[in-house]
Amino acid sequence: MHDARAQLEFAAAKLRRGELVAFPTETVYGLGAAAFDEAAVARVFETKSRPPTNPLIVHVASVDMARTACTEWPEHAMKLAEAFWPGPLSIVVHRSERVPANVAAGGPTVCLRMPAHPLAIALIEAFGEPIVGPSANRSGHVSPTTAEHVRAEFPDVFVLDGGPCRVGIESTVVDVTLSRPAILRPGTIGAARIEAVLGVSMRNAEAGEQIARSPGLLHRHYAPRTPTLLCEAWSEFDLPEARFVVLTQRAHEVPQQATAIDMPGDAEGYAAALYDALRRADALGVELIIVERPSGPGDSSMWVAILDRLERASAQGEHS
Ligand code: TXA
Ligand code: MG
Repeated sequence: MHDARAQLEFAAAKLRRGELVAFPTETVYGLGAAAFDEAAVARVFETKSRPPTNPLIVHVASVDMARTACTEWPEHAMKLAEAFWPGPLSIVVHRSERVPANVAAGGPTVCLRMPAHPLAIALIEAFGEPIVGPSANRSGHVSPTTAEHVRAEFPDVFVLDGGPCRVGIESTVVDVTLSRPAILRPGTIGAARIEAVLGVSMRNAEAGEQIARSPGLLHRHYAPRTPTLLCEAWSEFDLPEARFVVLTQRAHEVPQQATAIDMPGDAEGYAAALYDALRRADALGVELIIVERPSGPGDSSMWVAILDRLERASAQGEHS
């Protein structure tokens, strides 16, 4: 089935039957199902082994479609969608009755996003209704940025192949149901850009303000199976015997006994390369993955989002 149109129709027919389809977005691949179909949504939780307390993002192809999933579309949502949709920004609003409770982990809100990827939009339009799309990985594991990553994790799920994801880390989640909006998950679009659009100051996690994080977002997340350490430099550790992989921006300094994965210097390049690098490191079957704390040119909010993912990838234990 090589014809793109035929693939889309095949995928949309699966969604109509309540089955799952993986699809590309500009951030990471999503595990799609009909958002208004409670049984299909339950299948997504089951397939990912996702705790039912962690709500799903609902993907839409337009603001009009977004309005069918919420009770009101507040001014803040309108402004953000105008500025950043299609794009890597997910907006939390009050959910409409059409959205089953399991999408929202039983809560009163729903998280909506219009992805900036032609295949994702074409799929949603062919299906005609919103699609839930958590990242297409087992709960807690590294998100997928290629169709191969998804197939490796879910061999039985049909994948629409859109090539490697351009952005590489998940969307920013912003809650506009509060009088002062808040970022619940940092991403490519940082607080400063959101504040500039809304003209209000946010409750700002980037500035260290303590706010409730997205429900169900585990401390240990985005994690390889191999033990992973985040540090300033591999040489902080005394590892005469261990076989390890280093994700580094200075590959030439890594000793021969280790494998170096050379990471881009700039924030945008680093984000796009990160999950593939973690998956490749994991596949080498070494004892330890060392990630050197990255820095460099590029958007500072992007570095905040990258460090958030690296801290979760290297966190000990299961819960925050
Ligand atoms: O870039 C992305 O957002 C990707 C692509 C596929 O669109 N999707 C993604 O989905 O990362 P997932 O399920 O892995 O992450 C969803 C995040 C979680 O942190 C979840 O807690 C939060 O969004 N979330 C979903 N619904 C929410 C709600 N009603 N209130 C607050 N947070 C919510
Ligand atoms: Mg995820």
